[in-house]
Amino acid sequence: MRQDHLISASHLSREDIEAVLDRAADIDADPAAFRQRHAGKVLGLCFFEPSTRTRMSFDSAMKRLGGQTVDMGPVESSSVKKGETLADTVRVVEGYADALVLRHPSEGAATMAAEFVDVPLVNAGDGAGQHPSQTLLDLYTIRENAGLDDLTIGIMGDLKYGRTVHSLAEALTNFDASQHFISPESLRLPRNVRYDLHASGAQVREHTELDEVLPELDVLYVTRIQRERFPDENEYRKVAGQYQIDSETLDAASDDLTIMHPLPRVDEISPDIDDTDHATYFEQAHNGIPVRMALLDILLSQDR
Ligand code: CP
Repeated sequence: MRQDHLISASHLSREDIEAVLDRAADIDADPAAFRQRHAGKVLGLCFFEPSTRTRMSFDSAMKRLGGQTVDMGPVESSSVKKGETLADTVRVVEGYADALVLRHPSEGAATMAAEFVDVPLVNAGDGAGQHPSQTLLDLYTIRENAGLDDLTIGIMGDLKYGRTVHSLAEALTNFDASQHFISPESLRLPRNVRYDLHASGAQVREHTELDEVLPELDVLYVTRIQRERFPDENEYRKVAGQYQIDSETLDAASDDLTIMHPLPRVDEISPDIDDTDHATYFEQAHNGIPVRMALLDILLSQDR
């Protein structure tokens, strides 16, 4: 990878992405070969927002590389509660770790934090901004199940606040992918993301109904409506539950359709899909291990 930090998927070239995905495939094929790769190194985990998958898979990935982790723990029991700034927090934690993983509710927080540290910093989600390490595991899952070129993907749900969507859409511009965005009018992709997609020449279409496009799709990427990001609960209620899929919805889909979701889900994918061949979301979450191992391996091996 060309950069020291991973802040936005828009900074990733096709070569960067393939380097991580190929390394992840090597790890999947022979995890034992990587078991002592970063022995003696420490990863700092700074999560200012809740997380299950990202926090635990980075923790597990670092340990599977022979390293260790230090975790800031919940914000409530950290010195953030005493008024410590983000800049001071990351400057302190970089003294305890060889790389940092940061999740924060404010868009742009990772960009700002990276200005203050010399160790590699991974943006693990900044508000409604970006979540690029999720994108790498999403791309790995797509490559394994449907291939990344000549791909027709539908991305559905909360496209306005869904940071996994923003990162994935931008990363897919590196590939021959036709992207269909399905959402209520009020949750369309933000203007800046639409601008970037058009500027890159991406093949993009927007829809309000899934059935307009479902039969064409190789992959359907479903997202949760991000209730916590709505400034007005009434606005959330207007769209909650509008985009739900169940086995009946899939009557019109290709037999080979791959269904993905970054998780956690609320009610947007019925559990009756979980045991079908379409369901790929748990495999996708498990791919967080080889992909985050690969990412850490590359970032920790770079000459700085
Ligand atoms: N997909 C994802 O970011 O999940 P967590 O919020 O549990 O980390």
